[in-house]
Amino acid sequence: MPTRVLIEGGWVFAGEGDGPFEILEDAVVAVEGERIAYVGPAAGLPADWAPTRRIDARGKAVLPGFVNAHTHHAMTLLRGYADDVPLMPWLREHIWPAEENLTGDDVYWGTLLAIAESLQAGVTTFADMYFFMDRVAQAVLETGVRAHLSRGLIGVAPGSDRALEEGRELVATFQGAGEGRIRCALAPHAPYTCPPEFVRQVLAAAEKLACPIHTHLAETKAEIEEIRAQYGKSPIRHFADLGVFEHETLAAHCVHLESEDIEVLARHGVRVAHNPISNCKLASGIAPVTELLEAGVTVGLASDGAASTNHLDMFEEMRLAANLQKVSRMDARALPAWQTLRMATVGGARALGFDKLGCLAPGYLADIVILDLNAPHLWPRHDLTSLVVYSAKAADVDTVLVHGRVLVDGGELLTIDMERVEHEVQARAERLARAARRG
Ligand code: NI
Repeated sequence: MPTRVLIEGGWVFAGEGDGPFEILEDAVVAVEGERIAYVGPAAGLPADWAPTRRIDARGKAVLPGFVNAHTHHAMTLLRGYADDVPLMPWLREHIWPAEENLTGDDVYWGTLLAIAESLQAGVTTFADMYFFMDRVAQAVLETGVRAHLSRGLIGVAPGSDRALEEGRELVATFQGAGEGRIRCALAPHAPYTCPPEFVRQVLAAAEKLACPIHTHLAETKAEIEEIRAQYGKSPIRHFADLGVFEHETLAAHCVHLESEDIEVLARHGVRVAHNPISNCKLASGIAPVTELLEAGVTVGLASDGAASTNHLDMFEEMRLAANLQKVSRMDARALPAWQTLRMATVGGARALGFDKLGCLAPGYLADIVILDLNAPHLWPRHDLTSLVVYSAKAADVDTVLVHGRVLVDGGELLTIDMERVEHEVQARAERLARAARRG
């Protein structure tokens, strides 16, 4: 018999689709196995539906789990390692030299740290692009979270053929693993690191494996200038012409876009991962999220790696995403709270290509966050969506379910030994920094 979890008495953020949430007061969410069986008043639940576990959500908000649509999880090992540096020197002088010394074990422990931080902040799914991805898959399978995984491919680096082979192997081995909790993609890193011939090789492999593409596009002004000088067009047009968008594509950043680029993204159904804090901190710019949404582009919210963002907290990303749209358009109505919360949940789920994920409705996968509203910054209650988006914090996350299984209970991580993780990551981070300094 499947497990049956009954979440009772909370304010449930219900309703499918893109509109404002339908917030049900004193409602129940019934979970059967990995899916939501029922959402509504307790009286509507069949009398013979007996739960194997009850969760008291009185005074709490029940939300779909957050989806972090673009990150490099193991970069937690480099958190605070090179701050206040622009993107290109940051990558070339600091990050890439440090990454040269990374081992599979480092990536495993760095990823566990990121999953721990994410889970305690209500993030149930993440899209990761990095290397030693079999070890990331191991961490995902062990901890019970959901993920979209891809081996980052840098065509201009030595060993790019071997990297592509590892990318293929990841897809062949882990596509659909963990009862469908893992989706795999191939990841040509960016137009400025992947020459056309290499991109074509990646696309041929993606065709054979029938898998999606995950990439970085139009992140900085420098990238736009470099690609224009080299190919005479924008990075979006360049990747479109190479045929990248004939494949299901998840494109991180998309900060510097012409209106023609937005049309191209919309026409090809390219999904965008918006990284507001990373784009601010690396001084990349403000992505035209409002225009993308108006054009019908699917947009998910993301943190990027913790080496650039310094945290993996979707509450902070939501707040900045909404505020950046308002101030850049000089319009306080831009990206309202409900739309921001949709972007952080179902928008991300769609961007990653997970079916029936990101809403609290029958038939959806049971990835659920319960937020404790009993804190001074969460009184009084006028509009609960505003409260969640503009006032709540990661520390308010009380309980988290992924695939119907409780992974965080009363704030405690049930599948991760944090003491061991802390010890491992500190020792490994120190070793990496020492090695990078020696060059
Ligand atoms: Ni990135």
